[in-house]
Amino acid sequence: MLKTTLIKAALDAGKLIKAFTAGSFAIQSKDSVNNLVTEADHASEKLIISIIRESFPDHYILTEETGAHPTDSQYKWIIDPIDGTVNFANGIPICCVSIGIEKDGEMLMGAVYNPFIEEFFFAEKGKGAFLNDQPISVSKKNVLMESCLVTGFPYKYPESGGLLETFGSFIKAGVPVRRLGSAAIDLCWVACGRFDGYYEFSLNAWDSAAGFLIVEEAGGRVSDFKGNRYSPYQEKIIATNGQIHDQLVNWINKIIG
Ligand code: IPD
Ligand code: CA
Ligand code: CA
Repeated sequence: MLKTTLIKAALDAGKLIKAFTAGSFAIQSKDSVNNLVTEADHASEKLIISIIRESFPDHYILTEETGAHPTDSQYKWIIDPIDGTVNFANGIPICCVSIGIEKDGEMLMGAVYNPFIEEFFFAEKGKGAFLNDQPISVSKKNVLMESCLVTGFPYKYPESGGLLETFGSFIKAGVPVRRLGSAAIDLCWVACGRFDGYYEFSLNAWDSAAGFLIVEEAGGRVSDFKGNRYSPYQEKIIATNGQIHDQLVNWINKIIG
């Protein structure tokens, strides 16, 4: 029932956001001019919440656009109604619906759906990770210098912390670093082996909850910048195929000190 509801919520919301792109839709700025929210984000979130509420009226829900809907349930749904909103608003087909379910503080299931290229990623704790129902696994590359990385940037540039210095260090060393604009898709693309590693300085739980489990279930490793196991409630993330993980942790720490 939990899995069916999760899959339905992600698929229906994905179809809904795609339908918005057939016409025009309202776009607003949030705390900074380019941190956008569209009519489709609100509609997607509303639909997801109503699907969850139908089957699990007592579950805790945390979403990007309406925040926490707390209950004392052991289940918590963590929702990004559109991850990659700037892409979405510009017609760039790299965006998704991301929904994770936590049980007693541990990720239990995650679904990430990009309706524009029909990619549906799913993982359940201990049961592996899947792309369109096919099992996926991380890449096998074991040398950071030969890896293909991905990262993302926050809407407001943090003056301290070494974000651009870190990015620059890879570029100077000739290591390819992509920037897709959707943290959930970045994580899923590590999970299916397209990227060897991903790092980002400033995420929220809804960006990473589902993708975090999908990477782990695909055989990868996810940590904070110190190499400690990741929690979606911390900002900094490193997710890799496992093979290059320590190298990436060490590289970043050398730059940020
Ligand atoms: C953003 C995307 C982006 C990441 C930002 C997030 P949004 O989420 O995941 O890749 O770099 O930090 O805020 O605003 O598109 O839901
Ligand atoms: Ca997001
Ligand atoms: Ca979002």
